[in-house]
Parts: sequence; C-alpha cells; structure tokens
Amino acid sequence: MTAAVLELRDVTRHYGGKRQWLGRGAAIRAVDGVDLTLAAGEVLGIVGESGSGKSTLGRIAAGIEAPSSGMVTFQGQRYAPIDTAAWRRQRRRVQVVFQNPSQALDPRLTIAAQIRGVLAAHGIEALERGVDRTEAILSRVGLTGLGTRFPHQLSGGQLQRAVIARALVLSPEVIVCDEAVSALDVSVQAQILNLLKDLQAELGVAYLFISHDLGVVRHVSHRIAVMQRGRIVETGPASEVFARPQDPYTRSLIAALPAATPAARRARDAARQAA
Ligand SMILES: Nc1ncnc2c1ncn2[C@@H]1O[C@H](COP(=O)(O)OP(=O)(O)O)[C@@H](O)[C@H]1O
Ligand SMILES: [Mg+2]
Repeated sequence: MTAAVLELRDVTRHYGGKRQWLGRGAAIRAVDGVDLTLAAGEVLGIVGESGSGKSTLGRIAAGIEAPSSGMVTFQGQRYAPIDTAAWRRQRRRVQVVFQNPSQALDPRLTIAAQIRGVLAAHGIEALERGVDRTEAILSRVGLTGLGTRFPHQLSGGQLQRAVIARALVLSPEVIVCDEAVSALDVSVQAQILNLLKDLQAELGVAYLFISHDLGVVRHVSHRIAVMQRGRIVETGPASEVFARPQDPYTRSLIAALPAATPAARRARDAARQAA
C-alpha cells in the first residue's frame, strides 16, 4: 500500500454561530465530519456544487486554515499552529494553486523575480547543479524566455502557468488546486489541465484537485470524492464513480455533464435514467 501523505480525520469547520445582539446566529457547517486520505503521488478530485465546502476543505488540507474540530496530519504529523516557524517550514511541502492567478502574483515584480523570491524565502539555492532553477521551471511550464515579463504582460493561461511554476519550484509533496482552471477559457483550460497532469506524472506530486466541474475533475483524477453540504457523499476510483455512481447527488452531477465522447454520453444517459 502507498503511504498516506495527507490525512483528514473527522474534520469539521463551522463559521459564525457567535453571540449576536438578538441571541446566537446560526452556525454554517462548511465542512462537516470529513475523512479523507491522500496517498503519495495520487490525484484526488473533490467535486461538488458551489457552497458545498470544497474551498474550506482545501484551505484546511493546505494548513492555511485550522479546522473547528478533527485532525489533519501531513506525513503522519499534525500541522503546526498557524504562523509559527514550524508552520512556515511546512508550508513549503503543501502548495496551493487558486482560481485567479492575477491575484496570486505580485503586479510589481517580474515572474522570474517572484520565483527567485520564493526560493530565497525558503533558503533554497538558485542553482541546481549549475542550472538556474527559475529558468528551468519556467521552461517546464511553457514560459521559456518570459521570466522578465510582469504579470500584466501575460495572458490568463500564462499567469496560471507562472503560479504553477512558483508552486512546483519548491518541490512540494502536495498541491491543492482549487478551481485552478475555472477562470480560464475552455481551450486554455484543456492546456493547463494537460500540463498539470503531465507534471504530476513526471514529478510524482500528489494533488488535491478541487472543482465544481465534474468533467474537469474526471480528466485529471485517479480517485474522486463527491462533496455535498460539507460532507463526502461518495468516494471511489474515478472510472468507478462514473460507471457506477452510488449516490443520487453524484448521478445528478453526471447527468448534468455535456457529453463530449460516446463513452461519456453512455455514462451520462445511464445516470439520467437512474437519477
Ligand atoms: N470565511 C468564511 N466565513 C463565513 N462563511 C464562510 C467562509 N468561507 C466559506 N463560508 C461558507 O461556507 C460554505 C462553504 O463555502 P466554500 O468552502 O467556499 O464552498 P465551495 O468552495 O464548495 O463553493 C458556504 O456556505 C460559504 O458561504
Ligand atoms: Mg470554492
């Protein structure tokens, strides 16, 4: 069995519910008793409609938000309390790629300068066996020669490539991708998805791959967890979840997919019949 890199046990996150002027406000259970295991080198897709708690789960998995209760372990160790020195060291190991790359980057710095800054912040040498790490990673994500550009000089797809480069240059064990292609045009989406898929296979990094779009999740995931109202309602190998969805909610997600291939059409039509 492959080792678990990330484990969530009975993780819950409430928002609100604090004492207010007229009594106590109702708490939102954004994440409600979630158990998840991400194996080393695995792509686990998290899918569910907007508001189902995916991003909250992603922030907790990345260690940038603490759960209200439950336990998160990275390689068998609990996350250090947020903002401590130990936490900052851990942050290198679990990186995040969010929806809007222009917000993730500093508009005042060139792309190369931002990647060098990240390396310096983590005390990593700029050269690896004589090769400039920044140049190498930019080439790997398809941005050869574009390191001298500022964010406003790049397209949406190029910006997301830069964000991916900045995450990968730290050689993380896990990348949490939260709606990483959702803001991009459909044609660009496919390019970025293929890049993420290739990089994953090449580097063996694990992804927690979050999207509201089951078609996108299916394209990259080994395993899929379906989330509804803060809970995981179904989980299994991606092909299995598509071929034999067990939960009515999963069936409704599959039934809503546009069918691009005959196989997808068959799966969708079967799900529509069963839904
Ligand atoms: N920081 C926050 N404060 C209050 N409520 C929040 C916060 N973040 C998320 N929520 C609420 O938690 C629920 C889940 O949100 P989210 O995790 O963003 O879902 P998703 O990513 O699936 O759309 C929603 O009802 C949302 O309004
Ligand atoms: Mg979200």
